[in-house]
Amino acid sequence: MKVLITGGTGYIGATAVEIMRSLGYEITILDDCSTGHADTVPTGLSFIQGSLLNPTDVAQALAGVEAVVHFAGKSLVGESVEKPDLYHHVNVDGTRILLDQMHQVGVKKIVFSSSAATYGEPTQIPIKESAATAPTNPYGATKLAIDHMLSAESAVRGLAATSLRYFNVAGALHCDRGWLTERHNPETHLIPNVLRSSAENPLKIFGGDWPTPDGTCIRDYVHVIDLIDAHVKALESLASPHHEIYNLGSGDGYSVRQVVAAASTALGYAVPTLDSPRRAGDPAVLIADISKARDGLNWIPTRGIEAMVADTVASFK
Ligand code: UFG
Repeated sequence: MKVLITGGTGYIGATAVEIMRSLGYEITILDDCSTGHADTVPTGLSFIQGSLLNPTDVAQALAGVEAVVHFAGKSLVGESVEKPDLYHHVNVDGTRILLDQMHQVGVKKIVFSSSAATYGEPTQIPIKESAATAPTNPYGATKLAIDHMLSAESAVRGLAATSLRYFNVAGALHCDRGWLTERHNPETHLIPNVLRSSAENPLKIFGGDWPTPDGTCIRDYVHVIDLIDAHVKALESLASPHHEIYNLGSGDGYSVRQVVAAASTALGYAVPTLDSPRRAGDPAVLIADISKARDGLNWIPTRGIEAMVADTVASFK
């Protein structure tokens, strides 16, 4: 099957390119490399360095394609609060152009990177797909707007669409070109920041007074390789015009201090930390109910927090 992967030079998109290529998919990448890295693109692969906001680039990228796996978009919660219009433009307007171009050339299948940020502050843990959606930041609002667009497209234009709502993605993949890993600038995510912690620049623990057993926030971490496995399963199950939403996490929660402890074990020294004030917008606990993905996609994540930390440690060496 020939597949367009948008955002295929980012952390998650590049991992998808590598895994799907090894499974025999023919791939075209469309990415403007605004946050991704062109050096992740395998030699000889079809790569269009262009923008979702440019219909000509999108039309070129869709040539001969049967399905789209759509990762491209801006993804920093904090930045989205400062630049809501930018997030709306790139994420929502960009996806609108993609869907219109897909319709024009008759591409009827899409798997989309949605987010747990669509739910906002949860009223129940674990979070089911049927939970209320009330995003607390513009990033989550753009992902929710796209989920709604996909529902409408499936009803009106016959699109077969799956939204995958990621919780906290972590880990790395080793391939013939080295490690595909998190290379964000600025880096806001916990595990890379834990691994970069030093005595001079200790990891800031954002809040020690949360209503959790050790006082730090709890999150649901899923290995990027397991995450892409779910994308492949979602892609292969797309058939009739329909929009389905699945949570992707592990179904387990780890506190910030538990992640620091796992990293300290992997590194062989105590990671330096600094108790710091809460970060604005952080919910106390986010844990996915993944039973729908388990039953509907036949998907079971197999890599735990130790593997996510160990792979990230190896990828940073
Ligand atoms: N944290 C720290 N110190 C750091 C970085 C993070 O204490 O230096 C804490 C955060 O406060 C939070 C936890 O570690 O409690 C995880 O933080 P991340 O920034 O790694 O991840 P988030 O849970 O904030 O965000 C993730 C995705 C977002 C998505 C969100 C959904 O990265 O894209 O989950 O809720 F929107």
